[in-house]
Amino acid sequence: MSSNKKQAVLHIDGQAIELPILSGTLGPDVLDVRQLSAQGLLTYDPGFMSTASCASAITYIDGTQGILLHRGYPINELAQRSSFLELSYLLFHGELPTPSQYAEFMSKVQAEMLVHEQLVRFFTGFRRDAHPMAVMCGVIGGLSAFYHDMLDFAESRDREEAAVQLLAKMPTLAAMCYKYSIGQPFMYPRYELGYTENFLHMMFATPCAPYVPNPVVVRALDRILMLHADHEQNASTSTVRLAGSTGASPFACVSAGIAALWGSAHGGANEAVLNMLDDIGENSEENIQRYIERAKDKNDPFRLMGFGHRVYRNFDPRAKVMKESCDEVLDALGMANDPKLQIARRLEEVALQDPYFIERKLYPNVDFYSGLILRAIGIPTNMFTVMFALARTAGWISHWNEMAGHPHRIGRPRQLYVGPTERHYPAHTPNDQ
Ligand code: CMC
Repeated sequence: MSSNKKQAVLHIDGQAIELPILSGTLGPDVLDVRQLSAQGLLTYDPGFMSTASCASAITYIDGTQGILLHRGYPINELAQRSSFLELSYLLFHGELPTPSQYAEFMSKVQAEMLVHEQLVRFFTGFRRDAHPMAVMCGVIGGLSAFYHDMLDFAESRDREEAAVQLLAKMPTLAAMCYKYSIGQPFMYPRYELGYTENFLHMMFATPCAPYVPNPVVVRALDRILMLHADHEQNASTSTVRLAGSTGASPFACVSAGIAALWGSAHGGANEAVLNMLDDIGENSEENIQRYIERAKDKNDPFRLMGFGHRVYRNFDPRAKVMKESCDEVLDALGMANDPKLQIARRLEEVALQDPYFIERKLYPNVDFYSGLILRAIGIPTNMFTVMFALARTAGWISHWNEMAGHPHRIGRPRQLYVGPTERHYPAHTPNDQ
């Protein structure tokens, strides 16, 4: 971050306030308004549409051009050539690992996938029909009870240790949520399996039968994890940073991130897409048109799930890769004529030709196709957002580490107060005898 020579001057009540303009390596310049509060002025930006909450070197997005870079590397190159664990290393450390660094990182993560047996007992406290995201909020937050005291988050080595623990435990706990919900025994991780393969094993193997994954499925799932791994200062990542700015345990911060991710405007969208395709029912023009009309009707709260994005206004580069992956997986599993896929394709076609969606620059986002892939793999719909959380853990811990490793202040937004001015407690109230 550099302060360039440009300055903005704010004229207010005859006073001129000079505001420095900061430049990053890419992206819009940023007006530094930090001095305003000392002058009794605040900025107003609900939804933070015009606010840079931090300086970060992890991910860059240009929503107009459809660009997504992680530590400078384009997402499509990473999705084609990298793996989720390598990307996690890159996000956290800033550089791609050497072969020996990668091998060491992988074996550290693999070695930590087993969860403390005491944590296994948490699950029995939940109803079997609890939403898996509710269970995840609880058990991930619960990890702080196991690791908090032994780690000093001012030390980069301990922060890495926390990151490895979170990356390693997420697939195990996610799979346990599923096994608990269907009443099957938990499957322990196997050290000889890769990260994504291990997750599939813990989800679908039983003590009676192994799970033999199709390599196309392993690759597609790993790619889904990569495409969801980080997305700069989105709602859940900002939540993790805000919680982390107080010095809270990273396990508790990630639990807060999971809560923020749950909503259908954020990570809940992939589940909502499948529910919407279910609701549409039969693939008929009449049904599709009805849902398009509902999405356009301002008196109807319904929105076309998997469409639109806060940042991407031309196309979502992740959606492009996801669409290709979706075709690949459904072909490999002999599901190319899947009725849900047909509905999704037609819905996309109709929406992209409709002036409402064209004018508002609404395009399919990453979640429009990811749900179809997850469903084809056999992941139940209510686990979709858990998959997103598993992937986004890589981003959450990298942002938390970036913040914790640099001087930072507690996150504390201000407000435009519009409530009553000072008034006095009435002389007589129902509390009086
Ligand atoms: N269906 C119908 N209309 C929409 C949609 C949609 N999916 N998305 C936006 N609009 C309309 C919106 O009503 C508004 O219309 P108008 O200008 O007439 O008032 C206009 O488009 C601009 O929308 P906005 O609400 O200002 O956009 P936003 O940046 O606040 O919201 C969003 C972004 C993702 C929350 C929204 O597009 C949405 O709700 N999409 C559906 C849910 C979804 O797919 N979410 C996943 C996002 S990708 C995963 C992730 O990265 O978290």
